[in-house]
Amino acid sequence: MSHDSIDSILHEERLFPPAAPFAAKARIPSAAALAALREKAARDYEGFWADLARSELSWQKPFSRTLDSSDAPHFRWFEDGQLNVSFNCLDRQLAKRRDKAAIIFEGEKGDIRELTYGELHETVCRLANGLKSLGIRRGDRVVIYMPMVPEAVIAMQACARIGAVHSVVFGGFSAESLKDRIEDAGARLLITADGGYRGGKVVELKQAADKALDHGCPTIEKMLVLKRTGHSINWRKERDLWWDDLIKQQSADCAPEWVDSEHPLFLLYTSGSTGKPKGIQHSSAGYLLNAIVTMQWVFDIRDDDIFWCTADVGWVTGHTYVAYGPLATGATVLMYEGAPTVPDPGRFWDMCQRHKTTIFYTAPTAIRALMKFGEDIPGRYDLSSLRLLGTVGEPINPEAWMWYHRVIGRENCPVVDTWWQTETGAHMIAPIPGAVPTKPGSCTQPLPGIEAGIVDEKGNDINEPDKGGYLVIKKPWPSMLRTIWGDDERYRQTYWKKFGGRFYLAGDSARRDKDGYFWIMGRIDDVLNVSGHRLGTMEVESALVAHPRVAEAAVVGRPDDIKGEAIFAFVVLRGARPPGGVDESLTNELRAWVAEQIGPIAKPDDIRFSDNLPKTRSGKIMRRLLRSIARGEAITQDTSTLENEGILRQLRGEE
Ligand code: PRX
Repeated sequence: MSHDSIDSILHEERLFPPAAPFAAKARIPSAAALAALREKAARDYEGFWADLARSELSWQKPFSRTLDSSDAPHFRWFEDGQLNVSFNCLDRQLAKRRDKAAIIFEGEKGDIRELTYGELHETVCRLANGLKSLGIRRGDRVVIYMPMVPEAVIAMQACARIGAVHSVVFGGFSAESLKDRIEDAGARLLITADGGYRGGKVVELKQAADKALDHGCPTIEKMLVLKRTGHSINWRKERDLWWDDLIKQQSADCAPEWVDSEHPLFLLYTSGSTGKPKGIQHSSAGYLLNAIVTMQWVFDIRDDDIFWCTADVGWVTGHTYVAYGPLATGATVLMYEGAPTVPDPGRFWDMCQRHKTTIFYTAPTAIRALMKFGEDIPGRYDLSSLRLLGTVGEPINPEAWMWYHRVIGRENCPVVDTWWQTETGAHMIAPIPGAVPTKPGSCTQPLPGIEAGIVDEKGNDINEPDKGGYLVIKKPWPSMLRTIWGDDERYRQTYWKKFGGRFYLAGDSARRDKDGYFWIMGRIDDVLNVSGHRLGTMEVESALVAHPRVAEAAVVGRPDDIKGEAIFAFVVLRGARPPGGVDESLTNELRAWVAEQIGPIAKPDDIRFSDNLPKTRSGKIMRRLLRSIARGEAITQDTSTLENEGILRQLRGEE
């Protein structure tokens, strides 16, 4: 994609200065305070991070070396130190916050549970002991495939406690996707539930887990099952075991396993340009450090906050801002199991009112979807507890930003638009709400200690305002990914090769305006962003061609008012195209097929059949042309090199 191809709807010049009452109490209360932090990072980059690591993390063994770049692009942070992430999240809160709510949970059906730090610590210890009793040891991989319930966080924390490496697979992914991820990670244990509630339906997790294990996953020894729905499920006595049965016999004491700073805390699979998702590997100390400082800087977290991040733990946002960051800062985190529209589109606002949420963090897609239902709905609720709003995952259009600010925030709450990625571990470019004026649609400026830049094809800085280029990060940072699990070569190729190892390539294009504000313009690779979820076009294509009737497929994105991007698939069937076109039932069958192969989020919105795909003479699919067609734009590309120009009419849906 060309850097200049994104239209200018993102242009919005208004500045929203930090509200004085907010700034007065904020941790970073002024532009001057922020400038001092930035200045320190610029003067002594390593010292800046080392001081934070010493003050914000509890170490079993202090580190003496801050950053080792001798094996770049593998960077080691705080390497000779030792700590435990679960200790940092739980044990160190016990003295002051044993009886403070750590997690307030609400199920889709309205069931509410509260776990104090003391209770959470106890359950995590019991499960950690349970995992040990199953033979799970430091470095072993555990896959977690759970609904959005506290036990998902408990499972993650228990793994961290014993040094096991978790890989959470989003509960909306299919059996097939689960199997691929289990096999790639070589996991020994699968933790799941009999089901979960979402969108008024039961998500049959155990059924999908059974299917994944029936078709492969030879490394899995046991499946641990949480009872959530109580519905009947299949049971394999020699393999399956109930969560409650395992933990009830265990001691509530479990000494944390001290691990090196660089010990892998988790893998999280995310889409890239090929059909195979990448297992992004994160570290322990560096990851947790950025999780903590961004909770402080960007969310300005305080002890009396009720912090609600609506992301599922299956995504990185749910890792950093549900399972780790809030707990490591002693916050109360609100967790919700279900969909925003159940029983009606007032659910989020109702929950904000009832739980007195103070910080609310969600995706632009959710805002746009709820905005459609009108202002009356949020207007029915008392949202006065809210003091800060955040967004993540995709560009937010100024209209949705303004609505969020005005209707949900009552013009009292700063809105923080946070740019980051699975790979970056934590916020990279985001406003510091007491210090940085915001602009609707811009994620504003890089955080202190983060050197983001925009460069041209050769890696030279683009200083001209509003000129698009590659978004890069120029210096290593503590929570950066360490590698791609089992595929270090892909790590080097994807993130470092383009600029000869000088910069981390984010895969986004961006521009900077005259005030130095960053505007994210979209991906430069074949990755789509559908409702804030990353999906590779190749993944969807591979799923489609795995169907017996499909010979070839090409998938592109087209803009969608709510989802940001929608999936448009061009499909060539095996054999001749039926005269009179393809009937609707095959379209539906293919959509269901993709849902089964990957998950419902990957279902194509449009499928168009043709006799062939547009290819250059050398056989390359002309994706830009397909993108133009999917967007209904006039075709400006030169089609004279097309081997089969006649199919253009078919692709446009004209025959
Ligand atoms: O394209 C950017 C977009 O989401 C991508 C990262 O996706 P993922 O790893 O799934 O993580 C999402 C949650 C952190 C980025 O490369 N993206 C993320 N945040 C923003 C964004 N685009 C614009 N504005 C954002 N605030």
